[in-house]
Amino acid sequence: MTTTTTSPTIAVLASDVADRIAAGEVVERPASVVKELVENALDAGATVIDLDVREGGRALIRVSDDGHGMDRANAARAVERHATSKIRDAEDLVGVLSFGFRGEALPAIGSVSQLTIETSTEDGAGVTVEVAGGTLRDVRGTARQRGTSVSVASLFYNTPARQKFLRGARSEWRAIADAITMLALVRRDVRFTVTHDGKEQMRLPVAASLRVRVAALWGNDVAERLVSVDDVAGPIRVSGLVERPTDVGTAARRTFLTVNGRAVRDTGIVRAAEAAYRSTITAGMRPSVLLEVELPGGEVDVNVHPAKAEVRFRDRWHVERAVERAVRRALGTEDSAATVGYVRTFLPTEPSFGSPLGVESLRQAPLVEPAPLFDDASSDATPRDAPRATEAGEQILVPPLAQFHRTYITFERPDALVLIDQHSAHERVLYERFMRALEGGESSSQRLLFPLTMHLTPAEAEAFEADREFFSKLGYEAEGFGGTSILVRAVPAPHPRFDAERCLRDSLAALTGDRESGVIARHERLAATVACKAAIKSGDLLAPEEMRALYVALARTTLPAHDVHGRATILQLGWDELDRRFGRR
Ligand SMILES: Nc1ncnc2c1ncn2[C@@H]1O[C@H](COP(=O)(O)OP(=O)(O)OP(=O)(O)O)[C@@H](O)[C@H]1O
Ligand SMILES: [Mg+2]
Repeated sequence: MTTTTTSPTIAVLASDVADRIAAGEVVERPASVVKELVENALDAGATVIDLDVREGGRALIRVSDDGHGMDRANAARAVERHATSKIRDAEDLVGVLSFGFRGEALPAIGSVSQLTIETSTEDGAGVTVEVAGGTLRDVRGTARQRGTSVSVASLFYNTPARQKFLRGARSEWRAIADAITMLALVRRDVRFTVTHDGKEQMRLPVAASLRVRVAALWGNDVAERLVSVDDVAGPIRVSGLVERPTDVGTAARRTFLTVNGRAVRDTGIVRAAEAAYRSTITAGMRPSVLLEVELPGGEVDVNVHPAKAEVRFRDRWHVERAVERAVRRALGTEDSAATVGYVRTFLPTEPSFGSPLGVESLRQAPLVEPAPLFDDASSDATPRDAPRATEAGEQILVPPLAQFHRTYITFERPDALVLIDQHSAHERVLYERFMRALEGGESSSQRLLFPLTMHLTPAEAEAFEADREFFSKLGYEAEGFGGTSILVRAVPAPHPRFDAERCLRDSLAALTGDRESGVIARHERLAATVACKAAIKSGDLLAPEEMRALYVALARTTLPAHDVHGRATILQLGWDELDRRFGRR
């Protein structure tokens, strides 16, 4: 076959064309310009950053800082490609601490906009640099204070294809607000003000903690309801704030993650954090998690993504386990118990947290021997991942308790009236005990004097057959007895009121049908189902020793404040809230 087309000639692109193409990687939309400029300001040591945006950033983005500024020579060099003051050679890339290091951002932005940099290294004499469409237009002296202001006007004016892809001003503005929110969460030591179309949108004073910054961004109510995470596993430290299980799903989900102070996206880590919520929320629900991971610089590579939004870990598995454990521990603390109103006031300083509350106070004050009804005979071991769980055998101090409505057990603490839901609480106790039994621990089983014959429906018989091994670990010893009947020789004996036959029947009925609901492991689902059926019910009148025993058993669980279906076991009603409702303040 002959062809008439001549072989195409290869030509090196004019550098301004190449720059415009490359710019696409760094500058996708106005929000990416904001991110780059604010990161530059932070790298320059700014303590105050003002952002002024017009028309969603399409007309103007201006970032002013009080950082170290640039002298005349540096200011002109800053807009050249691969011009950076932050690294000198490839080795510096390992464990790089500044946000920037590529020397790409300013030239990329300058190639697709009208860029003006005003900068000064000390109050008084400064310099103005103007770039339009990648060409240096002017360098002239200006008077200004120490610091730098970078204005980006008419973004993408010379790249119509890109401009066409911009969304409406409101949507670009939202993306900018998200970008600045991320940076403001990372750098609480910097004061930010943000203006859009002449209206002030954010004013964020320096914040002493992540929680205080969250309060400034999203309100006290949001900040108050989050649970503190702080855990160290080997060289990995995980801290931050996560949503209370009982709040999950009530508001828009927020995620925020930093690795060594750099905001990143990482679905693996977010999933690990979510995994920590298992058995406290309905599978598939998405909690808000704001987490900061710190690890030695050599363990993480930040230079794998053009916008540095992703990182690579040398040992991802350990990082994810550390995150999961840290969040799990946070959910085991008193802070994670449901509240009505503000139980604590933490602003403006965080350390007022940690007053004896909920779970911790569950574990204090008059000594009582656990009564047999809830005595956790099979649980000599402290739950494995319980950080502050009391040692078994250690006596737990129980405050005066009262039962109300045959459903709730109440007691008081210095800062709150506390209510325990007797069924949910007992369910949590039994769930953890059953899980230990299923994972190889001892179960308490009682041999029946007269074996019991149970007639099951075909579906129930099938459910029993499928989970037979688990049932036997829970203490049900049974065998087929022709057709769909089974002969039960031994049953679990978790407490004297336990109705073994009814529990087995109800559990099998609940287990039929949703066999493949996936997500939670089968034995977790089985333990949850049987715990629910085996637990005391609302409406059961409890004797004082029974209440105390339940209290003690609950205090010994890993996640005392949460039942296994995403509901609360403990509700704290703050005195502050009561006072407010009675008009006392
Ligand atoms: N606000 C600022 N204050 C002081 N110096 C600045 C400021 N912005 C930029 N610079 C200087 O200009 C240089 C180039 O900035 P640019 O953002 O293009 O590259 P970078 O920050 O080094 O790397 P990256 O492309 O990864 O952001 C910086 O290395 C810094 O020296
Ligand atoms: Mg930069």
